Amino acid sequence: MITSRFSKLGFILAAVGSAVGLGNIWKFPYVTGEYGGGAFVLVYLITALFIGVFVLISELVIGKLGRSDAVTMFETLATKHKKLWKYAGFIIIVPLIILAYYSVVIGWIFHYIAISIQGLPQTVEQSKDIFIGLLTTDIQTQLLYHTVVFVLVTAIILQGIKDGIEKINKILMPLLGIILAILLVYSINVDSFSKAFQFMFNPDFTKLSSEAVVVAIGQAFYTLSLGMGIIITYAASLPKDSNVVKSSILISIIDTMVAIVAGLIIFTLLFDKGAESTKGAGLVFISLPSVFYEFGSIGSFLALLFFIAIAFAGITSAISMLEPTVEYFENRFNFSRIKAAMICSIFFYVLGIAALLSNIESYSSVLMIGEKGLFDWLDFVCSTILVPIGGILVVVFIGHYMDKEAVENELIPLMGTALTKFWFFMVRFVIPFALIIVILNETGIFKF
Ligand code: PHE
Ligand code: NA
Repeated sequence: MITSRFSKLGFILAAVGSAVGLGNIWKFPYVTGEYGGGAFVLVYLITALFIGVFVLISELVIGKLGRSDAVTMFETLATKHKKLWKYAGFIIIVPLIILAYYSVVIGWIFHYIAISIQGLPQTVEQSKDIFIGLLTTDIQTQLLYHTVVFVLVTAIILQGIKDGIEKINKILMPLLGIILAILLVYSINVDSFSKAFQFMFNPDFTKLSSEAVVVAIGQAFYTLSLGMGIIITYAASLPKDSNVVKSSILISIIDTMVAIVAGLIIFTLLFDKGAESTKGAGLVFISLPSVFYEFGSIGSFLALLFFIAIAFAGITSAISMLEPTVEYFENRFNFSRIKAAMICSIFFYVLGIAALLSNIESYSSVLMIGEKGLFDWLDFVCSTILVPIGGILVVVFIGHYMDKEAVENELIPLMGTALTKFWFFMVRFVIPFALIIVILNETGIFKF
């Protein structure tokens, strides 16, 4: 049983803190670039609304009715096959695995905060050397920052829901908002802002592929932290009278706005210096630093703000990845919070070190599995296979295996009978089917 509760605002900020992360500021802009700008943004907005909000509602309802750790909730809320459904709760292992390499990436961001202060790379070539050098040769720096993230995240988790998670989000989320606002205002005053705006909102449908649709669905899940038991776990600490529908819409809107604002800022700066929009994962770490340099003395300041913003976004997401397994050990095994936190943290810390080493030239042969290193494998398996599977489990569970009346009692007063029916139809049939397509497509079993 969960006794500690968020405040209403605290819950929204914590959920937004989980949702807003590297997925918004790093991944969204580069997939938008890759899949042709406006058309992708439009598809993404539709999927965020229909799939994102609907699954968010599902996870909030499960948490609110279940009030426990994720594993226990799947067990107690199932109307049949309780013993089997318990295992669905083990999706909480996924965010802990993600955290292993996510922590390493947050570490890179810390390093770039230092670079913004010490001096930015002056050309793209130099920028590339710095980033590739960090990844493939510099164990020390990566290990140092990975350890810093490990200590930070563990320390916050140890403080619990109210004094740890809620408090840090109440500080970092408003600061993140302010920083993004400053960067946006700056960008609006740069000439190429209108070009960036065009790029993101003027859809060129000839560029739209079915693959873009599949990618958009995957991104909607990842960006809203769905299918991993995270929102379910946070929602178990919802205040009693929270409106799960309004909360879901709000969380989704804020997450989407951050992604779009980040995109506008990044594309404005890139276009202004004539840099490429489609640079894959290197967009933030290779293209941007040298672009910031070209902005002169204000550039270092902008870079500093930018990397601090991503660091804040990353830390609050990282905390949310750790909490579900910690609560699981506390609840099911009666472990003290410190013992539970240490077990989970050391797990992600050690796995993160292995992931980091797999990018290092001299170690990569040991940690290669087929074409990819461990780092890339973890990301691939988690975000393209396990997260959609977790999503399927969540919607099938609430759609077919929970007490229908209890779910209706929660939703009908908030959105009426017709919408509730539509929501049921979506979670029962449409969303599971969409997610199966995502998995088939992303694993290459069947390409659309
Ligand atoms: N939603 C986060 C983002 O957009 C990522 C995340 C993944 C958060 C898994 C929690 C768990 O970056
Ligand atoms: Na996100």
